[in-house]
Amino acid sequence: MAAETARRRYDPIAPVYDLLQCPMGRASASWRKRLWAEAKGPRLLEAGVGTGRNFPFYPNSAKITAADISPRMLARARARASRMDLEVELREMDIQSLGYPDNSFDSAVSSFVFCSVPDPVRGLKELARVVKPGGRIVLLEHVRPRGRVLGRLFDFLTPLVVRLFGFRLNRRTVENVRRAGLKLERVDYLDRVGIVKLIVARPHKEVDDG
Ligand SMILES: C[S@@+](CC[C@H](N)C(=O)[O-])C[C@H]1O[C@@H](n2cnc3c(N)ncnc32)[C@H](O)[C@@H]1O
Repeated sequence: MAAETARRRYDPIAPVYDLLQCPMGRASASWRKRLWAEAKGPRLLEAGVGTGRNFPFYPNSAKITAADISPRMLARARARASRMDLEVELREMDIQSLGYPDNSFDSAVSSFVFCSVPDPVRGLKELARVVKPGGRIVLLEHVRPRGRVLGRLFDFLTPLVVRLFGFRLNRRTVENVRRAGLKLERVDYLDRVGIVKLIVARPHKEVDDG
């Protein structure tokens, strides 16, 4: 039911999503480059692929599966992959209940998704489940700013932004990573006001050294 809400929000936005991203231009490209530099392959999952804006940054040698809940976002991703002659397995799937066995991937990567996943803690637990022991979960996310004034402004604007664009401005994703039981390795601040963060975590699983 909650996943259905995310689908209903993103399907209508799909035709204009890339246009809405234009103002972030060069900054967004450098953030995405940093995100993918943290992903360790060879088997990678991109959770919430959207229209495929990360495709230019995929590591060449990796085998990548990319999932999204919105068929229309996925249709755009499929067209982009074909234009780029890129091999990527695209799947319509709810990242709150992934259709993969435990320990299927070396890393799970995601950008600007946990602001719109209805139950982010459940989604993060799912990423941890499908990532192998010792593997990585790498997130690029905008989060609620720490400053009191800006934080409250983001709280105030969130209901309107949810209605218009389907995501929350005030998600506390670093806290959600902890609440999901992941091992938080690093948080990099990518802008001056502390809104955009690169989060590197690991699943809490024993590594079998053989
Ligand atoms: C803001 S867009 C980000 C798209 C892309 N990652 C990017 O960086 O441009 C959020 C995406 O998350 C997807 N999404 C939201 N909730 C989801 C869920 N529960 N399962 C799978 N995808 C979901 C939406 O359909 C949408 O494509």
